Amino acid sequence: MLKKKIGIIGCGNMGEAILRGLHHKGMTKNIVVSETRPERRDFIKKTYGVEVEQDNKKLASQVQVIILAVKPQELRGVLQEISPALDSATLLISVAAGASLGTIASILDKGARLVRAMPNIAALALESATALAKGGEATKEDMEVAQEIFDALGKTVVIPEQLMDAVTGMSGSGPAYVCLFIEALADGGVRMGLPRKAALDMAIQTVLGTARLLTEQGEHPAHLKDKVSSPGGTTIAGIAALEAKGFRGAVMEAVASATQRSKELAKMQG
Ligand SMILES: NC(=O)c1ccc[n+]([C@@H]2O[C@H](COP(=O)([O-])OP(=O)(O)OC[C@H]3O[C@@H](n4cnc5c(N)ncnc54)[C@H](OP(=O)(O)O)[C@@H]3O)[C@@H](O)[C@H]2O)c1
Repeated sequence: MLKKKIGIIGCGNMGEAILRGLHHKGMTKNIVVSETRPERRDFIKKTYGVEVEQDNKKLASQVQVIILAVKPQELRGVLQEISPALDSATLLISVAAGASLGTIASILDKGARLVRAMPNIAALALESATALAKGGEATKEDMEVAQEIFDALGKTVVIPEQLMDAVTGMSGSGPAYVCLFIEALADGGVRMGLPRKAALDMAIQTVLGTARLLTEQGEHPAHLKDKVSSPGGTTIAGIAALEAKGFRGAVMEAVASATQRSKELAKMQG
């Protein structure tokens, strides 16, 4: 796979994360990257040994897959710029938050093979939770290509596009919720007398270790929770305190609010 030539337009946080993931998997042979700033182009070329380009249209005319990783407000301009260079075989993958497949297709003003991807910030550590949605003209092979690219950055799921707002509200915003939890866990430790640094290190490791355990053992979180909650013990006392404050309901509300906000922002953007 990835015998296709891939172009990444915009190599900031997300563009570089994608590049790093492909680099990590030894898949950088056929990649060309475009960026506005010369010093950024030099850095990318030096760090990853890929071709760099400053002309998006030129890039678009020489690749079979284009990953659009510019900010949503820059997307329209870039799409208009590359549109004449696209042919019916070009696969376009957009990671722009809030930009629907319909919006992208309407800007291109011609049929195109589109895939929408929603990774999260953990892509920077190659641990993204990424959702992919297939556009009408994308083929099964296009989806396999997109999946292979984003599997290099973590875990990938394929969903219908109408669930992208829910993805944005859950795994897109999720790292911030987890940060709040980690911070609160550490503060709890400090409150009980632990030194600040030790508390934070232990809180981060507790979340990381639990996530890894669930992943590696394929266990449901409710089962793991039951396993560590002995009758009359400390953990069930802590859980009762969390439940009294509506912990799970609050997290579910957070996802619902963020999903609603994502819908509102997408409407404004569209
Ligand atoms: N960061 C995340 O966690 C995350 C998560 C999910 C989705 N996304 C999506 O990923 C996209 C990129 O986000 P980001 O955080 O990576 O933003 P970013 O760090 O600002 O990266 C965008 C890059 O594109 C460059 N650029 C701007 N206009 C360009 C053009 N016409 N041609 C080529 N390159 C151009 C920018 O250069 P300058 O700095 O010189 O303008 C910048 O280096 C966004 O659409 C965002 O919604 C990001």
